[in-house]
Amino acid sequence: RADPLVLGIETSCDETGIGIVRGTTLLSNTIASSMDEHARYGGVVPEIAARAHLDELVPAINAAVAEAGIRLSDLDAIAVTCGPGLSGALMVGVGAAKALAVALDKPIYAVNHLVGHVGADLLQGELRHGDTNTGDTAPLEYPTIALLVSGGHTSLLLVRDLVSDVELLGETIDDAAGEAFDKVARLLSLPYPGGPQIDRVALGGNPKAIRFPRGLSQPKDMAVHRYDFSFSGLKTSVARFVEQRQDAGEPVPIGDVAASFREAVVDILLTKALAACADYGVPRLLLGGGVIANKRLREVATQRTDAAGIVLRIPPLSLCTDNGAMIAALGAQLIMAGHEPSTLQFGADSTLPV
Ligand code: KG4
Ligand code: ZN
Repeated sequence: RADPLVLGIETSCDETGIGIVRGTTLLSNTIASSMDEHARYGGVVPEIAARAHLDELVPAINAAVAEAGIRLSDLDAIAVTCGPGLSGALMVGVGAAKALAVALDKPIYAVNHLVGHVGADLLQGELRHGDTNTGDTAPLEYPTIALLVSGGHTSLLLVRDLVSDVELLGETIDDAAGEAFDKVARLLSLPYPGGPQIDRVALGGNPKAIRFPRGLSQPKDMAVHRYDFSFSGLKTSVARFVEQRQDAGEPVPIGDVAASFREAVVDILLTKALAACADYGVPRLLLGGGVIANKRLREVATQRTDAAGIVLRIPPLSLCTDNGAMIAALGAQLIMAGHEPSTLQFGADSTLPV
């Protein structure tokens, strides 16, 4: 059916996201984050995230419905993230979505969080604030390579069709990219979340000052892990550098460390993403996830895709970080493609594959 009205629920990590779309038109995107509660632990604490979802879900649904100017009874369907993510956090969203679907007698679509990130790029409308350098809201074309980088995931996807053919080419074998930013920030005594802090102090640093290792980039690694990522060696290398300076009683050049670390992460991410574009002959690259806020990542992505003749797509940041609108958008795509709804038997799957 054309342009279904869908409410999406996203609770896979620390964002309680409720979005409402009509087809590909964004009507509301309400986000409550428990980030502040995790800050003093230096990372997301699963039980705190789950409890926060429980507190925030109903107010977020009410706010989203008010913003969209609809009634819950107008909805054609509910879509919900059923994985991957934190189990307890997912369960809160899945439970709420099922209850809503039963109470309203509406169909429910259980969707994959990572595929949802790709769906974010479909959204149009006034609420799609802050278009980035792509400046284009033309429909997403297939096939496309998608690089998703956040505190919870670092994945490279080949998307031939959003609702029927998404292939995971590679992912991190240890830390997620955002997690690496958070851990390195901690090493430099900077607060959580680390990404924006690293960006801030890197301003005064030289990205070429220290040559940190690029994980899984040597020919022998590329043979097995061509599209996989590894950031733990990089983090250890930064830790060793900092320790050596401290042991020697020398000041740690924080700006240089941050800029050089960031340069290494950006280089790893884009080298692998562009290798996938070249290998599969796909001239399109879509970026998603909270790490996309990184200025240097966006800058180098623009330079390298321009040089390679690749169309770069970056949704506005409010749709790159975890949100319910992208989940609603994917649900709407499933409906428009004629997919059957999920039965109410599905659960939360923390390791759900794409
Ligand atoms: O997508 P997101 O908001 O939440 C989840 O991970 O679920 O991403 C948060 C992550 C954190 O690890 C944070 O440090 C990182 O994205 N991040 C950044 C920047 N802003 C946020 N990383 C690098 N540079 C940034 N400017
Ligand atoms: Zn995410």
